[in-house]
Amino acid sequence: MSEKVIIVQGNKTLKGSVTVSGAKNSALKLMAASILGQGESVIHNVPAISDIDVMGDVIQHLGAKLSRDGHDIRIDTAVLDTLETPYELVSKMRASIAVLGPLIGRFGHARVAMPGGCQIGARKIDMHLVGLEALGVEFAIDHGYLEARTPKGLHGALVTLEFPSVGATENLLMAAVAAKGNTTIENAAREPEIVDLAGMLNSMGARISGAGNATIEVEGVALDSFHPCEHTTVGDRIEAGTFLAGAAAAGGPVTVNNIDPNFLRMAIMKLEAMGASVSIGDKSVTVSREGPLAATDIQTLPHPGFPTDLQAQFMLLAALANGNTIITENIFENRFMFTSELVRMGADITIEGHHALVRGVKDLQGAPVSCTDLRAGAALVLAGIVAEGETQVHNIEHIGRGYEDYVGKLCSLGADVRSVPADGGHV
Ligand code: UD1
Repeated sequence: MSEKVIIVQGNKTLKGSVTVSGAKNSALKLMAASILGQGESVIHNVPAISDIDVMGDVIQHLGAKLSRDGHDIRIDTAVLDTLETPYELVSKMRASIAVLGPLIGRFGHARVAMPGGCQIGARKIDMHLVGLEALGVEFAIDHGYLEARTPKGLHGALVTLEFPSVGATENLLMAAVAAKGNTTIENAAREPEIVDLAGMLNSMGARISGAGNATIEVEGVALDSFHPCEHTTVGDRIEAGTFLAGAAAAGGPVTVNNIDPNFLRMAIMKLEAMGASVSIGDKSVTVSREGPLAATDIQTLPHPGFPTDLQAQFMLLAALANGNTIITENIFENRFMFTSELVRMGADITIEGHHALVRGVKDLQGAPVSCTDLRAGAALVLAGIVAEGETQVHNIEHIGRGYEDYVGKLCSLGADVRSVPADGGHV
């Protein structure tokens, strides 16, 4: 497959409405959770993105049968013939380790390649391991694989997480549901995707209460009480926030549909502080802006704080704001790498550790730029839409990992964006 580039013509506004897909970060874990159902589960509203393809490969590698029809996925996990997830898949997508919890929950045993570092930071899994150990799991490292065993069975426990890690909370939940006795997870992640996962687990027979709060209670149930289920993935708040940031950068009004506005409260507060007008519907949010963008400081924090996955998109707004903004990244240590690309478009940004000092400039100029991760990639395309002249965005495979038809959705809002082979021909 030839490499593709996104070509963006600048000086455009975005207007209209767009419907977000199902949340990537939910759907990936829902697919892993289907392991506990021991039969054919159906998941609706699954986004058509490449990370979902990788999770599909992980699940099929385990022996599950998977079929897709548009945004519906059927996964039959009645028979699994290996409990191992190979390096080739884990190295493609770190979220592959989400099968660890449900495999332990169902079989008491799993072998998962250790994830390496990735471009947005070291991303350790120590909290996953400490939490699972408290439930009775013993780990050994064997030739780059993490081997999990439960010689004395899986039992409930009180687990206090050092940090509200999303992945650790999910892996713990998916093991604890099938443990003997009760588990309490303190300092649990409170992201909407955790609530979605707990909802699916409960419809498979689990007994989880408190998901969405810092303390989650799990009453362990016997494995034969679990059954397959049908579940609809929650809307993607990060995709929604990306289009709203685009509207604030380029004018709007843009209405984003299929999203619970409550998921975006902090992002909406920041949009208003930056001078955008926001109106909130039942399952939609509309953003427009007439006056100049204003500077306001932002720090990323676990939900309901400002999401790290919207940091790059809001950096673009800060870059064009009237005044200086400090953006503090508290979740991932390397998540400012893309700022050098924005600087190449004329932004004035200084990085000092996990703080970015963004001095607003009047406008940006189109330039060749490169995606460093998927959210940065989405932000660079938005930057191109409001810049003067043409922007070529390289390494766009990152965008396809998490955004379904990003180019098509932006075009439907009036952007002039197209994806072409890197050698210049049209697709
Ligand atoms: C998930 C999301 C990602 C989002 C992030 C934070 C998926 C597939 N990805 O990632 O898009 O940006 O939540 O909202 O759902 N950490 C440790 N040890 C651990 C676990 C985490 O040190 O055992 C650190 C990580 O390196 C990171 C921070 O804690 O610095 C947050 O990680 P975590 O909340 O676990 O994020 P992910 O689940 O990896």
